[in-house]
Amino acid sequence: MRWIDTLIHEAEQRLPGPVLTYFQQGAGLGLSAAEAENHWNALRLLPHVLRDVSAISTRTSVLGTEVATPVLVAPTTLQRQAHEGGETAMLQGAAAAGSLVCVSSNAGVPFEALAGPAPWWVQAYVLRDRQLTADLLERAREAGAKAVVLTADTPVVGQKYSTGPNVWETVPPEHLLANVTGQGLEESQLEKAADLTPATIDWLRTTTGLPVVIKGVLRADDARECVAAGASAIWVSNHGGRQLDGAVATARALRPVAEALADTSAEVYVDGGIRNGRHVLTALALGATAVFLGRPTLWALAVGGAAAVERALADFTSELAHAMALAGAPDVSSLTCDLVSD
Ligand code: FNR
Repeated sequence: MRWIDTLIHEAEQRLPGPVLTYFQQGAGLGLSAAEAENHWNALRLLPHVLRDVSAISTRTSVLGTEVATPVLVAPTTLQRQAHEGGETAMLQGAAAAGSLVCVSSNAGVPFEALAGPAPWWVQAYVLRDRQLTADLLERAREAGAKAVVLTADTPVVGQKYSTGPNVWETVPPEHLLANVTGQGLEESQLEKAADLTPATIDWLRTTTGLPVVIKGVLRADDARECVAAGASAIWVSNHGGRQLDGAVATARALRPVAEALADTSAEVYVDGGIRNGRHVLTALALGATAVFLGRPTLWALAVGGAAAVERALADFTSELAHAMALAGAPDVSSLTCDLVSD
């Protein structure tokens, strides 16, 4: 058995029940969450032969930041419930693996404490209170965030059902809102804005001075609209199946989005159900510059903090390198869409 596959079982023993459920669950009937991995598994490859693969490089860059691996860490909440070090431990593990972390704006660690080990981006929910959003992002920028990732698939939070206690009643608020509590805020100020439009992209860009990534895009027409409105990158995601249940699998949505952006300078990323190096190879071949892992990094954090996060990312990366050798692709630029059969 792969060590990565043991993590979820080990995490099941360690995590409090409501937190485990929260990490695992999808929205609604859990259709999109359950099928994500299967759609990567269903794609077939057309490997090259007789290519010099004596030296394999997984190096790439995302929005100008060099990374040793295209396997990056998606934003997730309640990381301090997984490990006392929370986002700090996640960044340490990612730094050791030459990766990059997208930190949730609902992180359990203040942005100022993150300065240091790994390059990181800040994920934003634009709140109804725009000034509060701008202040939060300014703190992130000052603390070293190199890009802002607008999660665009969450005008309202997807409905998730569980039979046990509600996770929000079992965790301290600062494990969710380390960057917004303690400032005398009303709950209504923290509500997500439901009136975002492509114009929000330019507002974010000019407010923060950072490149803007739009996360949660599944359609080619939306991708083009976002790039025309100023986005530097599009992140194909259905939020790990936690927003609109029944939303298409990202393994299916990626190719049309990447094709629609082929004549632009925008980068494309993808997440959702990516569970091994072959999935990463398939995603890069279909047009992604990088992939992001959500739940696998939470399981690693829960089991062994920074060291386990490092090992998980390193294992994904060596599986990718192995698959690249077998596909006749010595570097990420040789991973082209003709490697994936229709
Ligand atoms: C998430 N995700 C998420 N996304 C986001 O933009 N902001 C957030 O705060 C969160 N929080 C969050 C919590 C938990 C527990 C999970 C599992 C996920 C979604 C995440 O960034 C990513 O899109 C998916 O997790 C990717 O799917 P996999 O890798 O988990 O299958």
